[in-house]
Amino acid sequence: MNFEEKKEAALKSAKIAINTSIYMLLFGVFWVVQDELFPNLFSPEPEIVQIDNAAIEEEYIPSMTLDSADVVNGIHQPTGLIVDTGVEDVMMTCGACHSLSLVTQNRADRDGWKDIIVWMQETQKLWELGQKEDVILDYLAKNYAPKNEGRRPNIEINEWYPLY
Ligand code: HEC
Repeated sequence: MNFEEKKEAALKSAKIAINTSIYMLLFGVFWVVQDELFPNLFSPEPEIVQIDNAAIEEEYIPSMTLDSADVVNGIHQPTGLIVDTGVEDVMMTCGACHSLSLVTQNRADRDGWKDIIVWMQETQKLWELGQKEDVILDYLAKNYAPKNEGRRPNIEINEWYPLY
């Protein structure tokens, strides 16, 4: 590179530096001005939506209280659970993660229910139930035991008739 070329290159970089500074300065001025005039132009205020908590609760969350008005023929209507000793513990504990229809749709003996609980503890982050476990297992084993129907009941014959 001879002297002329070096001069040329130096001038070129100087021009670029000056231009860049001018653009930055202009942008700075633009930013200050727009911020004064339209404070929320680039950061709009979030729209505030009023949520009606009462309506949501009514619509989605089954009542987890044992209100006698909710009990029809021994069934707690909002959850479908049979009302018996321990039902409140089952409602509060087992309804915490999923619908209680997972409970009412299943049948098992005490050991079977214990297995389901252990499975949830090992894989689904169910906590230790402590003293409640016995209450819950008693309730489940009694009210959601396997339906053992066995053979059909005997036919009741009221009237004999000849087979010819
Ligand atoms: C920490 C959360 C949690 C709690 C509390 C909980 N479960 Fe579960 N349970 C789960 C998850 C997750 C599944 C799997 C759900 C799925 O498959 O959609 C499940 C599934 C089930 C199933 C179906 C099992 C199967 O074989 O499909 C039953 C029955 C059940 N739970 C009963 C209960 C009972 C009874 C209680 C109260 C002692 C309870 N759950 C409490 C998380 C929980």
